Amino acid sequence: MRLVAPSILAADFNKLGEEIEMINKSNADFVHCDVMDGVFVPNISFGQPIVQSIFKICRKPLDVHLMIVNPEKYIHEFQQAGASIITVHYEACTHLHSIIEEIKGLGVKASVCLNPHTSVGLLEDIIADLDMVLLMSVNPGFGGQKFIENTYHKVSELKELILNKNSSAMIEVDGGVNFEVGKKLYEAGADILVAGSFVFGSDEPIETISRLKQL
Ligand code: DX5
Ligand code: ZN
Repeated sequence: MRLVAPSILAADFNKLGEEIEMINKSNADFVHCDVMDGVFVPNISFGQPIVQSIFKICRKPLDVHLMIVNPEKYIHEFQQAGASIITVHYEACTHLHSIIEEIKGLGVKASVCLNPHTSVGLLEDIIADLDMVLLMSVNPGFGGQKFIENTYHKVSELKELILNKNSSAMIEVDGGVNFEVGKKLYEAGADILVAGSFVFGSDEPIETISRLKQL
């Protein structure tokens, strides 16, 4: 699969409605919503009210990336706000299995995110239960950072783990994606590319989204 999830973090929040309209018109597959709490990551972005407003006008499924501590406290609220996929960080979850079960029990796709320093092998006993794994290719907290090259290797390793364990998890990669990086990521086995500044900073965002899907 070659899917694209524009990250709304890089949108102009003065005209969020127009930015969502642009995504509606594009052939993007998801809208990636980056929720940051200023504790798990050194930045604060937005929470449920914004996700809910996006949901009201958005015709693409919402891919909600929770960069927060104690994500289990907020799963239900983000499901209510319209999330189709909820991603929690491996590093933020003591009882990961039970959180994944809770997400799936609410009828939402369940995903786990790994920070750049977290090994793919740690997912061995949970991979069969996951709908998606999100690999961070920058340190979470900010858009517009440089892609970390070690991610290509992690994508291949994760693909192998998924096949070995008969898992149906999709592989999503987040941070520093552009045409050059995206092509290599798809070749390594990625299914979904998140792209923030590359899409919203481009002169023709609809065209950029289209080209990202055809690399
Ligand atoms: C970073 C976020 C990303 C970010 C990506 O913490 O998780 O989703 O928006 O932005 P770019 O594509 O600009 O690196
Ligand atoms: Zn993200």
